[in-house]
Amino acid sequence: MKLLAINGSPRKRWNTATLLEKALEGAASRGAETELVHLYDIDFKGCVSCFACKTLGGASYGRCVVEDGLKRVLDEVTRVDAVLVGSPVYLGSVTGETQSFLERLIFPYLAYTDPPTTLFPKKIRTGFIYTLGAGEERVREGAMEANSTSHKFLLEVVFGSARALWCCDTWQFEDYSKVYAPRFDVAKKARRREEVFPEDCRRAFDLGAELVS
Ligand SMILES: Cc1cc2nc3c(=O)[nH]c(=O)nc-3n(C[C@H](O)[C@H](O)[C@H](O)COP(=O)(O)O)c2cc1C
Repeated sequence: MKLLAINGSPRKRWNTATLLEKALEGAASRGAETELVHLYDIDFKGCVSCFACKTLGGASYGRCVVEDGLKRVLDEVTRVDAVLVGSPVYLGSVTGETQSFLERLIFPYLAYTDPPTTLFPKKIRTGFIYTLGAGEERVREGAMEANSTSHKFLLEVVFGSARALWCCDTWQFEDYSKVYAPRFDVAKKARRREEVFPEDCRRAFDLGAELVS
């Protein structure tokens, strides 16, 4: 059993990465092998629309032919038992690198049938961890809810299952006194970090354990 986690945040030690590490601890507690990949360490681009993955009769049908830094990660996805993607919410969506990764991860396996079907050769479990500065109530109002519904639909079609975990109202800056951000109630944020973030970490641990069970 192996769980591959993908960090779509540029920050390697902050909210998203911490939750992914907790999920990997959960998976390891069930005896699984684990790996964490930081997307911002990899030199890659999103889909270049070459359609090699859609061209019938070719050796590349159903797989991405782009030979950049992401190739090793995409190859690894075919070998593991579970994949967990983590991304901060940026401007109501996932980070640019995460979106580029999702294009390369999902599109080659998505057959243009109606309804869409998968070319991925087996079923694996997938999960998504979203972190965001806003509170829970804003998730329902914004575009992110629709984006996450779309991720869930596509991941379920291609890989067979998809779970999601939301971590809201995150601690965003090292030192709030050094940034101009009057909308934040810093004391409330600090309390949330003390009281709720540990619970988010526990939920991430459980998600990691579940993904390999
Ligand atoms: C460029 C940028 C855009 C952001 N946009 C949003 C947003 O639309 N909604 C939101 O709630 N938080 C937004 N945030 C806050 C992050 O989602 C939040 O701090 C997140 O937990 C950061 O993840 P990290 O600590 O793993 O880097 C934004 C942060 C940045 C840097």
